[in-house]
Amino acid sequence: MTASGARRAPVGTRDVLYPESSRWEAVVAGFAATVERAGYGLVISPMFEDVSVFSRGMGEKADVVAKEMYVFEDRGGRSLALRPEGTASIVRAFVQHRPPLPWKAWYATAAFRYERPQAGRFRQHHQLGVEVLGSADADLDVEVIDLAVTFLVSVGLDDFELRINSMGDPVCAPVYVETLRKYLESRLGELCDEHRQRALVSPLRVLDCKKEACRSATAGAPALLDVACAECKQHFGRVESGLRALAIPARVDARLVRGFDYYTRTTFELSSPGLDVAQNALGGGGRYDGLVEVLGGPATPGIGFGIGLERLLLACDAARRSAPSPVGASGRSAGPPPAVFVVDVAGGEAARDLTHALRAARIPSDRAFDERSLKSQMRMADRSGARLALIVGADEAAAGTVSVRALRREGDSAGGDDLQRVVGRSDVVGYVQEVLGS
Ligand code: HAM
Repeated sequence: MTASGARRAPVGTRDVLYPESSRWEAVVAGFAATVERAGYGLVISPMFEDVSVFSRGMGEKADVVAKEMYVFEDRGGRSLALRPEGTASIVRAFVQHRPPLPWKAWYATAAFRYERPQAGRFRQHHQLGVEVLGSADADLDVEVIDLAVTFLVSVGLDDFELRINSMGDPVCAPVYVETLRKYLESRLGELCDEHRQRALVSPLRVLDCKKEACRSATAGAPALLDVACAECKQHFGRVESGLRALAIPARVDARLVRGFDYYTRTTFELSSPGLDVAQNALGGGGRYDGLVEVLGGPATPGIGFGIGLERLLLACDAARRSAPSPVGASGRSAGPPPAVFVVDVAGGEAARDLTHALRAARIPSDRAFDERSLKSQMRMADRSGARLALIVGADEAAAGTVSVRALRREGDSAGGDDLQRVVGRSDVVGYVQEVLGS
């Protein structure tokens, strides 16, 4: 190490001193509060992993793995990598510990990528993220996107854009890649220098190239959703209608192809007009229904997102918004108990809408996914530690009502009374507030 090297933080990294650090604390606490209200528990995993966690998980050919990863050999001869992102580590931790499903995890972590440093692009950046393992339900995609959007709004950002797309599944994704390759084959001469070489090896990458040559050459390219299989189309349709139901504006963008191999079905990105175009992504995420298996676990669907902390603060500055003040975050790693558990055996829409409305009213709430039976959902409600169950069956759905059942009184560990009240859907949040407050 040179003398000057010993006096400066490495290129692409920075120190965060007080009082800027207090903004970071406030943002992390605000994130914790938002996601813990939805039943996510903090997970802390190592900053480095065996290199195969990332090379197998994210794909050997992904730029982040092939060109940007910090790989080193430790003194025992192990090949390790500093984590370039959070998802693969969380999935490795899941495979190792096999916590009960669904497993809802959140994290705040440094991530390391050997990139060319510039405004909003660092070699060590920080991500706030969630990952959920154990459900393929499209309503979960809506919940995850809703949480990312709710969090951005909570820090005062309102002029961001949400773009969504589907990456298909093992049935239709290869068909799409082949269709796109054929389309590009006759247009190689029109592409930018880099993609003229790589277009036939990695056709998807051409779609998100920012250079004008590639953009105009791909203006009429086929979209994955044109050739998606029926199941993927149906899944995407349910995500779109769920977002509409929660009044979350989203633009379908066929160019949104995120850079890692693990994505399947829904992908999304949130970008800010206040940041430079090349680095305007505040956060992104999507489904990865095959990743657990790739890392040696049983077939288990998953979805999550990561939001860049530095980018978020830059966007707040651009919009002249300060970070939120800290709101009591519980640090429970098992996930905080909800106050209310919504049991929906009438299709899931009521659970989607009610959990959204309850969380908006700051009432911690959770639900089951995957259209489980009444018995199984009631068991989950009971185990969750919630005080109240809101039950929507066929009768309630038809009448626009909710049955409210006390599972336990405050301080009780189990066993409420059998008291059940039927309340109108539009009154239920107020009613729950009253009962919980009393
Ligand atoms: P990503 O899009 O690579 O996704 O990164 C997430 C966010 O981290 C980006 O939107 C950006 O805000 C920030 N970010 C990434 N690289 C840098 C950098 N060099 N400097 C500053 N900020 C950066 C992931 O990492 C996935 N693990 C997200 C995910 C979670 N997908 C599913 N679950």
